[in-house]
Amino acid sequence: MPFAQPTRIAPSLLAADFARLGEEVKNVVASGADWIHFDVMDNHYVPNLTMGPMVCEALRPHTDAPIDVHLMVEPVDAIIPQFAKAGANIITFHPEASRHPDRTLALIREHGCKAGLVFNPATPLDWMDHVMEKLDVILLMSVNPGFGGQAFIPETLRKLALARGKIDAWKNSGGQGIALEVDGGVKIDNIAAIRAAGADTFVAGSAIFGQPDYKTVIDALRAEIAKGESLSA
Ligand code: DX5
Ligand code: ZN
Repeated sequence: MPFAQPTRIAPSLLAADFARLGEEVKNVVASGADWIHFDVMDNHYVPNLTMGPMVCEALRPHTDAPIDVHLMVEPVDAIIPQFAKAGANIITFHPEASRHPDRTLALIREHGCKAGLVFNPATPLDWMDHVMEKLDVILLMSVNPGFGGQAFIPETLRKLALARGKIDAWKNSGGQGIALEVDGGVKIDNIAAIRAAGADTFVAGSAIFGQPDYKTVIDALRAEIAKGESLSA
């Protein structure tokens, strides 16, 4: 049963109109988005600067959709309670940016959020092996973090298949379910192959917010996801 998992589309606000964020969130959720992907950049871990907990808090009343906070910050721990308080539902971080990733995962859950690790293109998946029971999400970067609108790195497909194998083996041995999310360069023309490689949660920034009608794009992404399932089922 390679495709037992539900699938989710998580539009990245990085590509939204920052002057109208509340409206953008409402529109994209009304158009079928499952999660709102919220990219946090600190001009230190990555060479760009975006949004913090105050923006998350301001958006929270505008939607019931889960807010998926992707931390590209270093250090990590101090900002976690602030995002939990601001209404985040899922918090992921880059393990090499935390001095103690196991402790950081526990901290996220203690604050009532789902926890996950993010892997840059060159970061090995080994970081997940000894913290499996503390994971709700694994996020594979299919671009180097810091900017939207970059091209999908094809090697990610092999890495997704490896991550899918680890997650399924864990589940089959009685472990909890872990979402497998992919982030960067996801488009209508590659999402079927990304699904076929094992992803179940798809971040898309410029593919959605760059278009005039969000529902048309999200419907097309879902149709391609379904094709990806029939391709290799
Ligand atoms: C990049 C961010 C991504 C980005 C994806 O560091 O983590 O979430 O917004 O944007 P697209 O979909 O345009 O590649
Ligand atoms: Zn992201």
